[in-house]
Amino acid sequence: MNKIQILINKKNKSKIISLTAYSKNIASIIDNHCDVVLVGDSLGSVLYNYNSTRDVTLNMMIEHAKSVRMGVKKSILVVDMPYNTYRNPKEALQNAKKIMLKTKCDAVKLEGGKKIINIIKNLIKNKIPVMGHLGVLPQSQRGKFKYKGKNLNEKNKILNDAKLLELAGAFSIVLECVETSLAKLITHTLSIPTIGIGASQHCDGQILVIDDLIGLNSINARFVKKYLNIKKFISIAVSNFAKDVKKKNFPKKKHSY
Ligand code: KIV
Repeated sequence: MNKIQILINKKNKSKIISLTAYSKNIASIIDNHCDVVLVGDSLGSVLYNYNSTRDVTLNMMIEHAKSVRMGVKKSILVVDMPYNTYRNPKEALQNAKKIMLKTKCDAVKLEGGKKIINIIKNLIKNKIPVMGHLGVLPQSQRGKFKYKGKNLNEKNKILNDAKLLELAGAFSIVLECVETSLAKLITHTLSIPTIGIGASQHCDGQILVIDDLIGLNSINARFVKKYLNIKKFISIAVSNFAKDVKKKNFPKKKHSY
C-alpha cells in the first residue's frame, strides 16, 4: 500500500499529524512525528515578510521544497502550488510536473473548490496526487482572515466544494479557519481525511505552521498554540556566545587549527 492510501486509511482510526517546514533542518526534526509535511506558501509571510502569499513564486517553492526533501524520509511531502501557477489545466499540469520532478515531493496542494475542479481533475488524471484546501484561502483573500462558514450560503458552498474535491480524486483536504459545525459535517460526509487549521477538533487531522508552534514567529491568531518559546533559547545561546568571545573563552585551542 502506498503512503497516500495509508493516510486515507487513517480516517476514523487515528488523527493525522501535519506541520509545515521550509528547510532541511526543521524537516528532519519533525518528520518522525508527522504523517504529512507541507512546504506551505505561508513561507511568504513567515520567512520573507510578504503581506500576501501572492508574491511567492514557483522557484521559491521549489528551492525550499528541495531543502525540505533532504530532511523528510517517512512523511508524505506536499508542496503548495503558489498563486498564478494554476490558472488553467495546461499551466497547472506543467508547473505541478516541474514541482514533482525537481523536488521529488509526493503531492501538491491547491486552494479552491468548484472554480478549479477541472484543473484538479486534470492533475489527478496525469497521476499527480492532490491535496485540496478550503475555507480561508490566503491566495484569494486580501486583508485580515476571518473564519468561513458563518452563514448557510457559505456553509453549503464549502460543503459542496469538499464533495467535488473528493469526487475529483483529492486524497485529503485542508480546512482553514472553518466554523466548527461545518468542519464536523464535512469530516463526517467525506471518506477522505480533513486536516484542520482553525477548524476545530472534529477534523481527521491537524496542521500548524512550525514557526508558530515553536514561537519563532510572532503571531497572535486564535488557532495557534505555542508549545515553546524558542526565541528565549536562541537568545540565551547567542548571549553566552557573545560573552565567551568578549572574555576570550571562545574559541579555545581545541576549536583552532
Ligand atoms: O501555506 C501554508 O502553510 C498552509 C497551511 C496553513 C495549511 O497552507
